[in-house]
Amino acid sequence: MNILVTGGAGFIGSAVVRHIIQNTTHHVLNLDKLTYAGNLESLVSVANNERYQFSQTDICDRVALDQIFQEFQPDLVMHLAAESHVDRSITGSQDFIETNIIGTYQLLEATRFYWNALEESKKATFRFHHISTDEVYGDLEGTEDLFTETTPYAPSSPYSASKASSDHLVRAWHRTYGLPVVLTNCSNNYGPFHFPEKLIPLIILNALAGKALPVYGNGEQIRDWLYVEDHARALYKVVTEAKIGETYNIGGHNEQKNIDVVKSICTLLEELAPNKPAGVEHYQDLITYVKDRPGHDLRYAIDASKIEKDLGWVPLESFETGLRKTVQWYLENTQWIENVQSGDYKNWLTQQYQAEQ
Ligand code: NAD
Ligand code: DAU
Repeated sequence: MNILVTGGAGFIGSAVVRHIIQNTTHHVLNLDKLTYAGNLESLVSVANNERYQFSQTDICDRVALDQIFQEFQPDLVMHLAAESHVDRSITGSQDFIETNIIGTYQLLEATRFYWNALEESKKATFRFHHISTDEVYGDLEGTEDLFTETTPYAPSSPYSASKASSDHLVRAWHRTYGLPVVLTNCSNNYGPFHFPEKLIPLIILNALAGKALPVYGNGEQIRDWLYVEDHARALYKVVTEAKIGETYNIGGHNEQKNIDVVKSICTLLEELAPNKPAGVEHYQDLITYVKDRPGHDLRYAIDASKIEKDLGWVPLESFETGLRKTVQWYLENTQWIENVQSGDYKNWLTQQYQAEQ
């Protein structure tokens, strides 16, 4: 099959592209604008595979989208491109509205135009998979409740409101135009190639540099962590096996308080990186409570029983094994980290093209 992946240079998108190229015989076109979050160095392991190709394209550019659909003739679309960081959405929401809402609308229209013209057999097997977040449900207050696929939407941040809007558009395009869609809403991912503005990579890299470990508010907020490769496997299962119109929640049954996540990283670093920066006796001493995130969601927790029952997907990593692998990865992949921190990863595309000429 030909699989069009949007946002394939991002954290989860690159895991999806690597998963498909390494474990199937399908062809992948990675369509990505390469914002600050897009990093082609995360795709070095598949970049030279003949079944992989890349197009630097904005999902808001309808003319470019139409051309890509005509040339690539996708059998499946996996839509991950988005602005994804809650804190950035609070300080500047415009890119979130443009990419997550308008961009999804443009992609839906390009897909509908292409899908309408397909021959019947191809039309029947085509799928548009919209990758979304558990944040559309708002937050949970008690310790017992879980988000299910029927939990009402109540987004709190500009980011989650923009993702909720995009989910509504996708469902409307299914109901009104019959577009064959599937949706997934996943909890917090972590793992290799994670941009160090998000909690786990930020804490690892700050600790290694002897910098403060910023914990928002009292650190009691709870997130439900899933190893990114488990998410990539789940997404592939959903796009290839789920019934049209279905929604699946995806999560790892790994609820953790933020402060406990930070302490676990410190404990792992004591073992794996015992040579600490000058002046640091224990990594935990670097923990610093800072001003809380406005509108901060208290607790996310996913009921993943539907995907487990219908599609037989279960996560393979526990938080303990996944976090250890993640810390180890950041200790070993210093070049990727240096290039992200210096901004050099942005030059990779130019260098790659020059090398090919
Ligand atoms: P990311 O920020 O790491 O990557 C997003 C990618 O989208 C980047 O490569 C970026 O260049 C690209 N992009 C942004 N705007 C674009 C545009 N206008 N046109 C084309 N490409 C554009 O995000 P991520 O963490 O990999 O998340 C991927 C998807 O999964 C998002 O839709 C996000 O909402 C969803 N999600 C993320 C998590 C998580 O924990 N990270 C959890 C659940 C769902
Ligand atoms: O739940 C899924 C969502 O998870 C995705 O939809 C988002 O794209 C993804 O970014 C993530 O959102 P969060 O806001 O939960 O992730 P983040 O890593 O930014 O923060 C995790 C928790 O840690 C959150 O409660 C805020 C807190 N935090 C975060 C940072 C960056 C801190 O305490 N200190 C920090 O410096």
